[in-house]
Amino acid sequence: MSETNLLTQLEDMQQKALQAVSAIEDEAALQAWRTAHLGRSAPVMQVFSNLPKVEKELRPQVGQRANQIKQALEAAFTERSEAIKQTSLQRALTQAALDVTLPGRRPVHGRLHPTTQILREMVAIFAEMGFQVFLSPDVETDDLNFGLLNIPPYHPARDMWDTFHAATPGVVLRTHTSPGQIHAMRAYAPEPVRVVLPGMCYRYEQTSVRSDMQFQQVEVLAVGQHITFADMKGTLEGFARRLFGNNVQIRLRPSYFPFTEPSGEMDVECFLCGGKGCVICKGSGWLEIMGCGMVHPTVLRNGGYDPEQFSGFAAGIGPGRVAMLRYHIEDIRYFWANDVRFLEQF
Ligand code: DAH
Repeated sequence: MSETNLLTQLEDMQQKALQAVSAIEDEAALQAWRTAHLGRSAPVMQVFSNLPKVEKELRPQVGQRANQIKQALEAAFTERSEAIKQTSLQRALTQAALDVTLPGRRPVHGRLHPTTQILREMVAIFAEMGFQVFLSPDVETDDLNFGLLNIPPYHPARDMWDTFHAATPGVVLRTHTSPGQIHAMRAYAPEPVRVVLPGMCYRYEQTSVRSDMQFQQVEVLAVGQHITFADMKGTLEGFARRLFGNNVQIRLRPSYFPFTEPSGEMDVECFLCGGKGCVICKGSGWLEIMGCGMVHPTVLRNGGYDPEQFSGFAAGIGPGRVAMLRYHIEDIRYFWANDVRFLEQF
């Protein structure tokens, strides 16, 4: 290779390298360029390693030129690197710019669960009639959940409540808030009682659109002297009218519960079919919202009252059912499915 030719090649290398670097837009491509043009096997670097083979008189000239080119490429690299940094900074500043004129973003507020809202409304209505809130445990003994409520172990009425039993014999998850009646009576006897007992209940049973294995209930209990069935009817109907409005159809029909005598159930006209009959109301046109009745003498005695002197009424209301009627919800299981798309509507 002639040395004049080598000098032309050097100029050529510089030109190509400088041309390439001017088109580079990002850091990765720039690093690749550095390896190709300034790395150990780059053409300019090869000139240095081949310098001993160059004719002696031309060696200084070739070496000097190669050095200048190497410096020029290094300078081009630094300059390009700076330019790329500037561009990306500029981009970051314009793209993620803070627009102080934008309206602020509202933080998401939590809210009360729909059945809690209904529950509080129910409690407020009873509070105006002189009832106090009384809390009792979710985990009960078999005796409190059944026995003391006039449902002995052999009694077929136990079939009405499929039960979650704890590993400890005789301990159950309450199937209703009714055991709270015993707690409340024992806390007050022989004074009169007027309480509501809200809380979660549990049933080991198949779920459906109108019943879940876990649900809230509000127990109502009034015990005193001269309390009659008329007091019960007036209180419960007054409550239902306050909750659903005066125009809603309500009915009280006879039923059976071991802890009340006589017993009844209160129904509200089905919201879905308007009384014609559908899946929600099992074709009856009515949706049951509570069981009720006059407290059984045995239960009064177990609570510490003399049934000859005292009488009372009790009821168990399902706020889930009430919320279904109020908001036209077609499946009670939505309440505990924990789907925000459902919950945030209330
Ligand atoms: N404990 C009953 C249940 O969950 C509901 C009930 C019915 C409660 C009649 C009462 C009552 O206080 O008097 O099935």
